[in-house]
Amino acid sequence: MTAWSLVYPDYIPAQEGLRETLCALGNGYIVSRACAPDSFADDVHYPGTYLAGGYDRLVSSVGDREIENEDLVNLPNWLPLMLRIGDGEWIGPDSVEQLGYRQELDLKTGVLSRVLRFRDADGRVTRWDERRIVSMHDPHLAAMSVRVTPENWSETLTLRSAIDASVINWGVERYRALEGRHLETLDSRCEESGVISLRTRMVQARHEIALAARNDVKLEGAHIAPARTETLPDMVAQEFEIEAREGRSISISKIAAYFSSKDTATTEPLQEAVAHVQHAPGFHELCQQHVEAWSHLWEQCDIELESTSNDEAQRKLRLHIFHLLQTASAHSVDRDVGVPPRGWHGEAYRGHIMWDELFIFPYLTLRMPFLTRALLGYRFRRLDEARRAAREAGLKGAMFPWMSGSNGREESQRIHLNPRSGRWIPDNTWRQRHIGAAICYNIWEYVEATADRDFLRDFGAELFFEIARFWSSLAQKRPDGRYGIRGVMGPDEFHTAYPGADPETAGGVDNNAYTNLMVSWLLTRAFDVLDLIPSDQRRRLCEKLDLTEDELTRWNEVSRKLFIPIQDDGIIAQFEGYENLKEFPWEEFGEKYGDLQRLDRILEGEGKDPNDYKVSKQADLLMIFYLFSREEIELIFDRLGYEFTPDMIWRNIQYYMERTSHGSTLSWLAHAWVLARADRQRSWQLALKALDSDVGDLQGGTTAEGIHLGAMAGTVDLIQRCYTGLETRSGALMLNPRLPEQVERLVTTVHYRRQILDLEITQERLTVSSRVMTAHPITVTYRGESREMSPGQSFVFVLVPETKPDRNIREHGQRRVREGSTPVQQEEIAP
Ligand code: BGC
Repeated sequence: MTAWSLVYPDYIPAQEGLRETLCALGNGYIVSRACAPDSFADDVHYPGTYLAGGYDRLVSSVGDREIENEDLVNLPNWLPLMLRIGDGEWIGPDSVEQLGYRQELDLKTGVLSRVLRFRDADGRVTRWDERRIVSMHDPHLAAMSVRVTPENWSETLTLRSAIDASVINWGVERYRALEGRHLETLDSRCEESGVISLRTRMVQARHEIALAARNDVKLEGAHIAPARTETLPDMVAQEFEIEAREGRSISISKIAAYFSSKDTATTEPLQEAVAHVQHAPGFHELCQQHVEAWSHLWEQCDIELESTSNDEAQRKLRLHIFHLLQTASAHSVDRDVGVPPRGWHGEAYRGHIMWDELFIFPYLTLRMPFLTRALLGYRFRRLDEARRAAREAGLKGAMFPWMSGSNGREESQRIHLNPRSGRWIPDNTWRQRHIGAAICYNIWEYVEATADRDFLRDFGAELFFEIARFWSSLAQKRPDGRYGIRGVMGPDEFHTAYPGADPETAGGVDNNAYTNLMVSWLLTRAFDVLDLIPSDQRRRLCEKLDLTEDELTRWNEVSRKLFIPIQDDGIIAQFEGYENLKEFPWEEFGEKYGDLQRLDRILEGEGKDPNDYKVSKQADLLMIFYLFSREEIELIFDRLGYEFTPDMIWRNIQYYMERTSHGSTLSWLAHAWVLARADRQRSWQLALKALDSDVGDLQGGTTAEGIHLGAMAGTVDLIQRCYTGLETRSGALMLNPRLPEQVERLVTTVHYRRQILDLEITQERLTVSSRVMTAHPITVTYRGESREMSPGQSFVFVLVPETKPDRNIREHGQRRVREGSTPVQQEEIAP
């Protein structure tokens, strides 16, 4: 196994679900799970292929309630390919004795291979060599090439290749009680050319999906024609009969195309799909084009990490980049899609778009900024829906939903099933209004990194202002003269209401510190956004939005007077009243249950309520230290008129870490980040844990339902921005590397304001080299020393050694070198 591959040397049915997700192939348009082609949906296998943004709604009855859910629809399956020897049964992975098995996902080329040898009940041994791609070159195409070799038998072999629209959404066990049949088949047929095809339509969205496939079967170079074609209402299959001989291989290539009625530059999807497979080249050429497309992506996106954990960390890092690029790629642009927290790899969270963008965009922005721009467009197009939601709640501006799908209405479920207790319980997660703050943060970070003022002028500012307006209308004056925000949830999903309160009628908590600090920040930033747009455009936008001086005055006032629940000991309460909650008996529950990640489910199972305790699912207040440097936090506190001392950061980290169950994969990541300078050892341990969250299935089964893209992209960003101390702030690229001791060398490339910079970092040195091109100079800063950098230039900074941990956390580029401390040394390398 190299640092470029994921290899499974054996077949373990219990791990199939996990591997199907981890080895899923995709291209930003579709993602197809790495299911055995001769398997069906059962407790071991789950064939699933999904279209980016392919949602449909169905109504289900739960008890006496009718609930409507919008799902990411499982598309017709392109994979089915199975064989039968003589008069025997159709062979499936679990009906034969596996003699040898190797599955490999090559991350460099995006090719999945499965090589297996099996013996059937009659002692016949067969070898199966399979390679599979989902083309990164042509987003509509998926292809598979299989060589079947009889090792000790000669008999008639029947091969059956099908496309199957009888699939339903069934991938997440706890959703199985809900309706899952989203597709109706409108047409199934076989063309004269031999291309088989299906035309389906989503029941509610009326979104059509066509799938066509071409099968080429050869024995020693000679084409074999199908012996029969079966055209059923939901499936079309071709069967090939071959006189197989011992030692002689039969080759099959299956090339499939998906088209949707929402595709651009197309006519009717079935016609497009059929024509596409007819004209597609053979597997070999398709594979070459695909490999080239991947090599172009890796040129732009790789990170080289040399660490004492050998290839392990490097491989996982690449796996994370790989899945990120399969979820959002150039093929996603113009498709009106967002970026989902579980990838398009499974059905968890129904493919909806959540705040995880906050963890995903930074890496994309510094590599392929056009992608972040396009993905922010997903939010802009749903601005009216968010305005409507705010209006209906009696508020102003735009209230974005916690979970967003097709048209941007709130898709969060109102009840969910606790698989532990089997009970349906109220789901209050929609109260996470902080999603709106995350959108503002994403807009600002994108603009800082790209200086793309056109984006701000044309879309970003309107989005930003409408969200700012929403927060300002939600904030209410308190008797003490400050403003408060009530009835919300912070990122910690364990706190949905106050103890004893009915979460349905009196849900949420008041003055979640993370939310209020974010709101103060964004209301302040709104003025910078105003300054950045040209004056005539600013006037037009203010007129369009009816944004008056009075309203701006209120934004300013709210940004200065929001209430933050700071305790006397400097601990910032997660929300107002948090201090009255009970401490949680960690030891007792640890002994009883072992794994406490999902304490909410454990407690509910015991008839208890996490709302009663000081327990968090994930970083909540600490997210502030994740998102902002110390200087920025000081500015926020200063504006709010609260005293802030640097030691508060370390004390709060310690306080909340002891009370967190890490029930979200985002939690290890966020904690690794905030500890990066204060406790490098612990930070690296948590980083390794976050890197392992999917590969090691650390949540015990959730990866089979989809990757955790927030944690995946976040770990890549942790390496790229946190350990390098990289910030895009105040018009400069600030760097202040502090690698974990276990990391010897890090090589990464970032796009910053049109320049492409190669960064090489060791424990001693930082080398920044700007590639030759035409672009304006930029400012690069290392610990307060600024350099103007033009394309073609390189600088080496000798890193200032730090002898003790920085418990003030993320002290970044702007710090001036203090008198008497080791001066920053720089040398310029001739281009
Ligand atoms: C976390 C959320 C996150 C979601 C999707 C949940 O477990 O609590 O913060 O947005 O997963 O990743």
